[in-house]
Amino acid sequence: MSALPFNLGGGTNGGFASPDPITPAEYEFIRKIVYEQSRINLGPSKKELVMARLSKRLRALDLPTYADYISMIKSPAGRDEMTNLIDSISTNHTYFFREPQHFDFLSQVVLPEFCETNAKHGTKNFRVWSAATSSGEEPYTIALILDDYFETRVKGWTWNILCTDISTRVLAKAQEGIFSKDRLGPVRPDWLIRYFDKGVGESDGFFRVKDEIRKKLTFKSLNLLAPSYPFRETFQVVFCRNVMIYFDRETQQELVNKISPLVEPGGYLIIGHAESLTNVKHPFKLVKPSIYRKE
Ligand SMILES: C[S@@+](CC[C@H](N)C(=O)[O-])C[C@H]1O[C@@H](n2cnc3c(N)ncnc32)[C@H](O)[C@@H]1O
Repeated sequence: MSALPFNLGGGTNGGFASPDPITPAEYEFIRKIVYEQSRINLGPSKKELVMARLSKRLRALDLPTYADYISMIKSPAGRDEMTNLIDSISTNHTYFFREPQHFDFLSQVVLPEFCETNAKHGTKNFRVWSAATSSGEEPYTIALILDDYFETRVKGWTWNILCTDISTRVLAKAQEGIFSKDRLGPVRPDWLIRYFDKGVGESDGFFRVKDEIRKKLTFKSLNLLAPSYPFRETFQVVFCRNVMIYFDRETQQELVNKISPLVEPGGYLIIGHAESLTNVKHPFKLVKPSIYRKE
């Protein structure tokens, strides 16, 4: 493991009084516009959370009340603020090796299967799409597994990962690939040494994914609710985990209709363990809970 200083950013927002509580009409406006733009369904119980998250936007924009914030969103200048609003509201919780059965399945079943099939047909490029990538823990977990597999077990393959999310804030963090030591607990110690540079000085306690791994990941902002997706390539595996849970059945159906053609025949769609495709039509066979194979 090499040792490097990183730029960790930072900054504070001191000296700003808390705004008055959001009124029912203001909350209803925010709830509706967030649903229209992202299908994130904010029930009444999310009011406190919305206020906590939005008060940070008010501070950043120097706006004293939620009414001012809403006026701003309604104005032409407010169009750009929508991204920040969705960013603040969306839940980006994630961690390395979350739902570890998916990664065991990737290394023990999917990779051997594809390498065997493609040894005969000659296509030696393995492509994964992490469709709700958040701050990067999911695609970097996949990257470590792919690199280890193609370096130590089966040679001669290239691989890459497309990483998308609606939130530009988390994508920027993912692209940096810097994680504090406590986020890296589930990573094997020898992989920590092999795949990360250790921070020094001000960056002590932080680790950065090595350049040669990071350059195999492409980060793009994408709203999964967009009418179509701006890429034509297909993927052997699509990870779309812990995002559908926010969507109603109709929206889940739309999403599955758009994702399915992008999964190669014989390829996999992996969703979160708390999610299911039970109520939507799809061309997949359930092979294990939350793991679907395209026939
Ligand atoms: C809970 S995180 C899941 C991260 C990772 N897939 C995992 O399972 O650990 C959910 C992510 O979905 C993203 N998201 C929410 N709505 C979205 C949408 N309409 N299009 C794309 N991403 C969305 C959020 O920004 C957030 O980063």
